[in-house]
Amino acid sequence: MSASWLGIPPGGNHFAGGLVAQTPSGLFWFARLFAEHPMASALELGSYSGYLAVLFALHCPGHTVTVDIVPLAIGDRLADLHRRLGITFVCGDVLQPATAARLMAAQARPRFVFCDNGAKLAEFRLYVPLLEPGDIIAVHDNPTEFPADSDDVTGLAHDHALTRWRRDELDADGTLLAVWRK
Ligand SMILES: C[S@@+](CC[C@H](N)C(=O)[O-])C[C@H]1O[C@@H](n2cnc3c(N)ncnc32)[C@H](O)[C@@H]1O
Repeated sequence: MSASWLGIPPGGNHFAGGLVAQTPSGLFWFARLFAEHPMASALELGSYSGYLAVLFALHCPGHTVTVDIVPLAIGDRLADLHRRLGITFVCGDVLQPATAARLMAAQARPRFVFCDNGAKLAEFRLYVPLLEPGDIIAVHDNPTEFPADSDDVTGLAHDHALTRWRRDELDADGTLLAVWRK
C-alpha cells in the first residue's frame, strides 16, 4: 500500500460534506474510471450515509440508484442533493436474486455496479452473471473482505469475460477497490 495520505483506510473520509466509507485514493480513481468509461447509470449496493451516491450521480445524473437494507437517515441537505442529482434510494436486500434482477434490468446501459454491502463475494457472484458488454463492476474491501485475486474470483471473472481495470495502480494506491469491465 502507498505510504501517502491517498492510501489511508476508509472511515472518516468525506465527500460532498458527508461521511463515505472509501479511501481518498478510491475517490480519485472513481473519477478516472468514469472519465475513461462514461456510464449511463450507476447502482450502488450498500448506501451507508448516502453520500457516495452523490459522487456517482455527478457522473450519472438522473440515473443513480443506491440500495440499502436499512432505511437511509436522510437529512434536509442530503435530500436536497439527492433530489437535484436525481438519485433514487431503494430499501431492500441486494442479495435477493429477484431484487438483483429487478435492479439491474431497470438500469440504463452501460451500467456501473458497485458492490459494497456486507457480503461482497456473494454480491459479486450474484451480479456478475447479470452484466452485459460495456458494464463495469467494482468491489470494495479488496483484499480484506473480498479476495479479488483468489481462484474463485478470477475464475468467475474469466468465465464471464471480464477484464480487470488498472489492477496494479489501484492496489499500489491502497484503494481497496477491484474493478472489471465486461
Ligand atoms: C460499507 S457500508 C456501504 C458504504 C458506502 N458504499 C460508502 O462507500 O459510503 C455497507 C452497507 O451495506 C448495507 N447492507 C448490508 N447487507 C445488505 C444487504 N443484504 N442488502 C442491502 N444492503 C446491505 C449496510 O446496511 C451498510 O449500510
